[in-house]
Amino acid sequence: MHTNASENRTAHRRRYLMCRPEHFTVRYTINPWMQPAKPTDTAKALAQWQVLHDTYLALGHEVELIDPADGLPDMVYTANGGFVVDGIAYAPKFRFEQRAGEEQHFIDWFQGHGFETVVPREVNEGEGDFLLVGDVILAGTGFRSTGDSHREVGEVFGREVVSLTLTDPRFYHLDTAVSVLDPVVGTERGGPAAANIAYLPGAFDERSQAILAERFPHAIRVSDADGAVFGLNSASDGKNVFISPRATGFEAQLKERGYTPVLIDLSELLLGGGGIKCCTLELRPKGNPA
Ligand code: ARG
Repeated sequence: MHTNASENRTAHRRRYLMCRPEHFTVRYTINPWMQPAKPTDTAKALAQWQVLHDTYLALGHEVELIDPADGLPDMVYTANGGFVVDGIAYAPKFRFEQRAGEEQHFIDWFQGHGFETVVPREVNEGEGDFLLVGDVILAGTGFRSTGDSHREVGEVFGREVVSLTLTDPRFYHLDTAVSVLDPVVGTERGGPAAANIAYLPGAFDERSQAILAERFPHAIRVSDADGAVFGLNSASDGKNVFISPRATGFEAQLKERGYTPVLIDLSELLLGGGGIKCCTLELRPKGNPA
Protein backbone atom coordinates (compact mmCIF):
# COMPACT_ATOMS: atom_id res chain seq x y z
CA MET A 1 0.00 0.00 0.00
CA HIS A 2 1.17 3.49 -0.86
CA THR A 3 1.73 5.33 2.42
CA ASN A 4 3.06 8.79 2.99
CA ALA A 5 1.73 9.68 6.40
CA SER A 6 4.99 11.44 7.10
CA GLU A 7 4.25 13.97 4.37
CA ASN A 8 3.41 17.34 5.81
CA ARG A 9 0.02 18.35 4.51
CA THR A 10 -0.78 22.04 4.37
CA ALA A 11 -4.25 23.53 4.66
CA HIS A 12 -5.19 26.06 1.99
CA ARG A 13 -7.72 28.72 2.76
CA ARG A 14 -10.99 28.15 0.93
CA ARG A 15 -13.89 30.41 0.10
CA TYR A 16 -17.16 28.53 0.06
CA LEU A 17 -20.75 29.36 -0.82
CA MET A 18 -23.40 27.77 1.40
CA CYS A 19 -27.18 28.08 1.84
CA ARG A 20 -29.04 27.57 5.12
CA PRO A 21 -31.51 24.66 4.84
CA GLU A 22 -34.37 26.81 6.14
CA HIS A 23 -36.79 25.36 3.60
CA PHE A 24 -35.28 21.89 3.50
CA THR A 25 -37.67 18.98 3.10
CA VAL A 26 -38.22 16.08 0.72
CA ARG A 27 -41.37 16.45 -1.31
CA TYR A 28 -40.36 14.96 -4.68
CA THR A 29 -38.02 12.22 -5.84
CA ILE A 30 -35.24 13.06 -8.29
CA ASN A 31 -32.67 10.64 -6.89
CA PRO A 32 -33.04 7.24 -5.17
CA TRP A 33 -32.29 8.65 -1.71
CA MET A 34 -35.36 10.88 -1.69
CA GLN A 35 -38.49 9.34 -0.18
CA PRO A 36 -41.22 11.94 0.34
CA ALA A 37 -43.13 9.53 2.59
CA LYS A 38 -40.29 9.61 5.13
CA PRO A 39 -40.58 12.59 7.49
CA THR A 40 -37.80 15.19 7.50
CA ASP A 41 -36.77 17.41 10.37
CA THR A 42 -35.83 20.88 9.17
CA ALA A 43 -34.57 21.97 12.60
CA LYS A 44 -32.21 19.01 12.68
CA ALA A 45 -31.02 19.74 9.14
CA LEU A 46 -30.31 23.33 10.20
CA ALA A 47 -28.39 22.23 13.29
CA GLN A 48 -26.27 19.73 11.36
CA TRP A 49 -25.61 22.23 8.59
CA GLN A 50 -24.58 24.82 11.19
CA VAL A 51 -21.88 22.48 12.51
CA LEU A 52 -20.41 22.17 9.02
CA HIS A 53 -20.55 25.94 8.52
CA ASP A 54 -18.96 26.67 11.91
CA THR A 55 -16.26 24.04 11.41
CA TYR A 56 -15.21 25.64 8.13
CA LEU A 57 -14.91 29.00 9.90
CA ALA A 58 -13.06 27.50 12.86
CA LEU A 59 -10.49 26.02 10.50
CA GLY A 60 -9.86 29.38 8.87
CA HIS A 61 -12.05 29.19 5.79
CA GLU A 62 -14.36 31.88 4.50
CA VAL A 63 -18.05 31.14 4.01
CA GLU A 64 -20.42 33.21 1.89
CA LEU A 65 -24.15 32.69 2.18
CA ILE A 66 -26.86 32.80 -0.44
CA ASP A 67 -30.41 33.43 0.82
CA PRO A 68 -32.58 30.30 0.82
CA ALA A 69 -35.77 30.59 -1.21
CA ASP A 70 -39.14 29.27 -0.14
CA GLY A 71 -40.31 26.44 -2.38
CA LEU A 72 -36.77 25.43 -3.36
CA PRO A 73 -35.95 22.75 -0.77
CA ASP A 74 -32.83 21.55 -2.60
CA MET A 75 -31.16 24.95 -2.66
CA VAL A 76 -29.09 23.93 0.38
CA TYR A 77 -27.04 21.83 -2.07
CA THR A 78 -25.06 24.78 -3.37
CA ALA A 79 -22.50 22.57 -5.12
CA ASN A 80 -25.08 22.37 -7.89
CA GLY A 81 -25.38 26.14 -8.10
CA GLY A 82 -22.40 26.60 -10.39
CA PHE A 83 -18.78 25.84 -11.12
CA VAL A 84 -16.42 28.66 -10.22
CA VAL A 85 -12.82 28.83 -11.37
CA ASP A 86 -10.57 31.84 -11.82
CA GLY A 87 -13.33 34.28 -10.85
CA ILE A 88 -15.65 32.96 -13.57
CA ALA A 89 -18.94 31.37 -12.56
CA TYR A 90 -20.47 28.89 -14.99
CA ALA A 91 -24.11 28.84 -13.93
CA PRO A 92 -26.26 25.70 -13.71
CA LYS A 93 -29.08 24.48 -15.89
CA PHE A 94 -30.84 21.80 -13.91
CA ARG A 95 -31.94 18.46 -15.31
CA PHE A 96 -35.23 18.52 -13.37
CA GLU A 97 -37.79 21.32 -13.33
CA GLN A 98 -38.08 21.02 -9.54
CA ARG A 99 -34.71 22.72 -9.24
CA ALA A 100 -34.86 25.08 -12.22
CA GLY A 101 -36.05 27.92 -9.99
CA GLU A 102 -32.64 27.96 -8.29
CA GLU A 103 -30.80 29.01 -11.44
CA GLN A 104 -31.67 32.71 -11.33
CA HIS A 105 -30.87 32.95 -7.60
CA PHE A 106 -27.35 31.68 -8.20
CA ILE A 107 -26.86 33.85 -11.30
CA ASP A 108 -27.95 36.92 -9.33
CA TRP A 109 -25.66 36.03 -6.46
CA PHE A 110 -22.62 35.58 -8.70
CA GLN A 111 -23.31 38.79 -10.59
CA GLY A 112 -23.82 40.68 -7.36
CA HIS A 113 -20.51 39.42 -5.99
CA GLY A 114 -18.19 40.33 -8.82
CA PHE A 115 -18.02 37.04 -10.68
CA GLU A 116 -17.98 37.01 -14.44
CA THR A 117 -21.07 34.87 -14.96
CA VAL A 118 -21.65 32.54 -17.89
CA VAL A 119 -25.25 31.45 -18.47
CA PRO A 120 -25.07 27.95 -19.96
CA ARG A 121 -26.67 26.53 -23.06
CA GLU A 122 -26.35 22.98 -21.84
CA VAL A 123 -27.84 21.03 -18.93
CA ASN A 124 -25.28 20.94 -16.12
CA GLU A 125 -25.39 20.75 -12.34
CA GLY A 126 -22.28 22.70 -11.45
CA GLU A 127 -19.71 21.35 -9.06
CA GLY A 128 -21.93 18.34 -8.50
CA ASP A 129 -20.57 17.07 -11.82
CA PHE A 130 -17.45 19.19 -12.42
CA LEU A 131 -14.41 18.78 -10.22
CA LEU A 132 -11.17 20.66 -10.68
CA VAL A 133 -8.16 18.42 -10.13
CA GLY A 134 -4.88 20.14 -10.77
CA ASP A 135 -5.44 21.84 -14.09
CA VAL A 136 -7.95 19.36 -15.39
CA ILE A 137 -11.72 19.32 -15.06
CA LEU A 138 -13.19 15.91 -14.28
CA ALA A 139 -16.74 15.92 -15.61
CA GLY A 140 -19.53 13.48 -14.76
CA THR A 141 -22.40 12.39 -16.96
CA GLY A 142 -24.92 9.58 -17.01
CA PHE A 143 -27.63 11.05 -14.80
CA ARG A 144 -27.55 14.85 -14.67
CA SER A 145 -25.02 16.93 -16.62
CA THR A 146 -24.87 16.17 -20.35
CA GLY A 147 -21.86 15.36 -22.50
CA ASP A 148 -22.54 18.64 -24.33
CA SER A 149 -22.04 20.52 -21.08
CA HIS A 150 -18.61 18.91 -20.81
CA ARG A 151 -17.68 20.54 -24.10
CA GLU A 152 -19.19 23.82 -22.98
CA VAL A 153 -17.35 23.88 -19.63
CA GLY A 154 -14.10 23.16 -21.49
CA GLU A 155 -14.69 26.16 -23.75
CA VAL A 156 -15.61 28.44 -20.87
CA PHE A 157 -12.51 27.67 -18.83
CA GLY A 158 -10.07 26.72 -21.59
CA ARG A 159 -9.05 23.57 -19.76
CA GLU A 160 -8.83 19.92 -20.52
CA VAL A 161 -12.04 18.09 -19.62
CA VAL A 162 -12.05 14.40 -18.78
CA SER A 163 -15.53 12.90 -19.19
CA LEU A 164 -16.51 10.14 -16.80
CA THR A 165 -19.72 8.12 -16.97
CA LEU A 166 -21.62 7.27 -13.82
CA THR A 167 -23.67 4.08 -13.91
CA ASP A 168 -25.14 3.54 -10.41
CA PRO A 169 -28.23 5.71 -9.74
CA ARG A 170 -27.24 6.12 -6.08
CA PHE A 171 -24.17 7.98 -7.27
CA TYR A 172 -25.85 10.32 -9.71
CA HIS A 173 -23.45 13.25 -9.37
CA LEU A 174 -19.69 13.03 -9.79
CA ASP A 175 -19.15 14.48 -6.31
CA THR A 176 -20.81 11.43 -4.77
CA ALA A 177 -18.15 9.17 -6.32
CA VAL A 178 -14.98 11.29 -6.47
CA SER A 179 -13.40 13.43 -3.80
CA VAL A 180 -10.60 15.87 -4.67
CA LEU A 181 -8.10 15.80 -1.83
CA ASP A 182 -5.39 18.24 -2.78
CA PRO A 183 -5.43 21.84 -3.87
CA VAL A 184 -4.43 22.86 -7.35
CA VAL A 185 -0.68 22.65 -7.08
CA GLY A 186 0.59 22.08 -10.57
CA THR A 187 -0.18 21.07 -14.06
CA GLU A 188 2.10 18.07 -14.26
CA ARG A 189 -0.37 15.28 -14.54
CA GLY A 190 0.77 12.26 -12.58
CA GLY A 191 3.87 14.11 -11.43
CA PRO A 192 4.74 14.71 -7.82
CA ALA A 193 2.92 18.04 -7.83
CA ALA A 194 -0.33 16.65 -9.18
CA ALA A 195 -3.40 16.73 -6.97
CA ASN A 196 -4.74 13.43 -5.76
CA ILE A 197 -8.26 12.09 -5.47
CA ALA A 198 -10.30 9.38 -3.75
CA TYR A 199 -12.97 7.54 -5.70
CA LEU A 200 -15.47 4.71 -5.78
CA PRO A 201 -14.57 2.52 -8.78
CA GLY A 202 -17.95 0.73 -8.85
CA ALA A 203 -19.82 3.96 -9.54
CA PHE A 204 -18.32 4.19 -13.06
CA ASP A 205 -18.43 2.32 -16.33
CA GLU A 206 -15.35 0.38 -17.38
CA ARG A 207 -13.95 3.03 -19.66
CA SER A 208 -14.09 5.62 -16.89
CA GLN A 209 -12.55 3.23 -14.37
CA ALA A 210 -9.63 2.71 -16.74
CA ILE A 211 -9.15 6.47 -17.17
CA LEU A 212 -9.18 7.03 -13.41
CA ALA A 213 -6.71 4.20 -12.80
CA GLU A 214 -4.36 5.56 -15.44
CA ARG A 215 -4.50 9.20 -14.39
CA PHE A 216 -4.55 8.67 -10.66
CA PRO A 217 -2.41 5.67 -9.82
CA HIS A 218 -2.03 6.87 -6.22
CA ALA A 219 -5.71 7.57 -5.64
CA ILE A 220 -7.50 6.25 -2.59
CA ARG A 221 -9.99 3.66 -3.76
CA VAL A 222 -12.88 3.75 -1.37
CA SER A 223 -14.94 0.67 -0.42
CA ASP A 224 -18.54 0.23 -1.50
CA ALA A 225 -19.58 0.46 2.15
CA ASP A 226 -17.97 3.89 2.54
CA GLY A 227 -19.32 5.05 -0.81
CA ALA A 228 -22.84 4.00 0.16
CA VAL A 229 -22.82 6.29 3.21
CA PHE A 230 -21.76 9.22 1.00
CA GLY A 231 -18.19 9.04 2.28
CA LEU A 232 -16.85 10.57 -0.92
CA ASN A 233 -19.16 13.53 -0.76
CA SER A 234 -16.50 15.43 1.09
CA ALA A 235 -14.57 18.69 1.03
CA SER A 236 -10.83 19.08 1.50
CA ASP A 237 -8.44 21.96 2.05
CA GLY A 238 -5.41 19.81 1.32
CA LYS A 239 -4.98 18.82 4.95
CA ASN A 240 -8.37 18.65 6.63
CA VAL A 241 -10.84 16.41 4.84
CA PHE A 242 -14.46 16.90 5.90
CA ILE A 243 -16.20 13.53 5.76
CA SER A 244 -19.17 11.62 7.10
CA PRO A 245 -18.50 9.84 10.42
CA ARG A 246 -20.03 6.71 8.87
CA ALA A 247 -17.20 6.38 6.35
CA THR A 248 -14.86 4.69 8.82
CA GLY A 249 -12.74 2.86 6.23
CA PHE A 250 -12.18 6.06 4.28
CA GLU A 251 -11.31 7.83 7.52
CA ALA A 252 -8.54 5.28 8.16
CA GLN A 253 -7.28 5.53 4.56
CA LEU A 254 -7.04 9.31 4.87
CA LYS A 255 -5.07 9.09 8.11
CA GLU A 256 -2.68 6.63 6.49
CA ARG A 257 -1.94 9.24 3.82
CA GLY A 258 -1.35 11.99 6.33
CA TYR A 259 -4.65 13.84 5.97
CA THR A 260 -6.73 14.91 8.96
CA PRO A 261 -10.31 13.63 8.70
CA VAL A 262 -12.87 16.00 10.21
CA LEU A 263 -16.11 14.15 10.89
CA ILE A 264 -19.38 15.98 10.22
CA ASP A 265 -22.73 14.25 10.37
CA LEU A 266 -25.29 15.48 7.84
CA SER A 267 -27.66 12.49 8.16
CA GLU A 268 -30.74 14.66 7.74
CA LEU A 269 -29.49 16.18 4.50
CA LEU A 270 -28.74 12.70 3.21
CA LEU A 271 -32.53 12.22 3.07
CA GLY A 272 -32.41 14.60 0.11
CA GLY A 273 -29.51 12.71 -1.41
CA GLY A 274 -26.81 15.17 -0.43
CA GLY A 275 -23.87 15.37 1.94
CA ILE A 276 -20.99 17.63 2.87
CA LYS A 277 -19.75 18.39 -0.62
CA CYS A 278 -23.25 18.95 -1.94
CA CYS A 279 -23.68 21.72 0.64
CA THR A 280 -20.40 23.39 -0.34
CA LEU A 281 -19.56 25.32 -3.50
CA GLU A 282 -15.98 26.43 -3.86
CA LEU A 283 -15.44 30.01 -5.04
CA ARG A 284 -12.04 30.10 -6.73
CA PRO A 285 -10.81 33.64 -7.21
CA LYS A 286 -9.29 35.15 -10.31
CA GLY A 287 -5.64 34.45 -10.78
CA ASN A 288 -5.48 31.95 -7.98
CA PRO A 289 -7.14 28.69 -8.91
CA ALA A 290 -5.68 26.97 -5.82
N1 ARG B 1 -31.87 16.50 -3.95
C1 ARG B 1 -30.76 17.02 -4.68
C2 ARG B 1 -30.84 16.56 -6.13
O1 ARG B 1 -31.17 15.41 -6.34
C3 ARG B 1 -29.46 16.62 -4.06
C4 ARG B 1 -28.26 17.24 -4.70
C5 ARG B 1 -26.97 16.75 -4.16
N2 ARG B 1 -25.89 17.52 -4.64
C6 ARG B 1 -24.69 17.06 -5.02
N3 ARG B 1 -23.76 17.93 -5.30
N4 ARG B 1 -24.46 15.78 -5.16
O2 ARG B 1 -30.60 17.29 -7.05
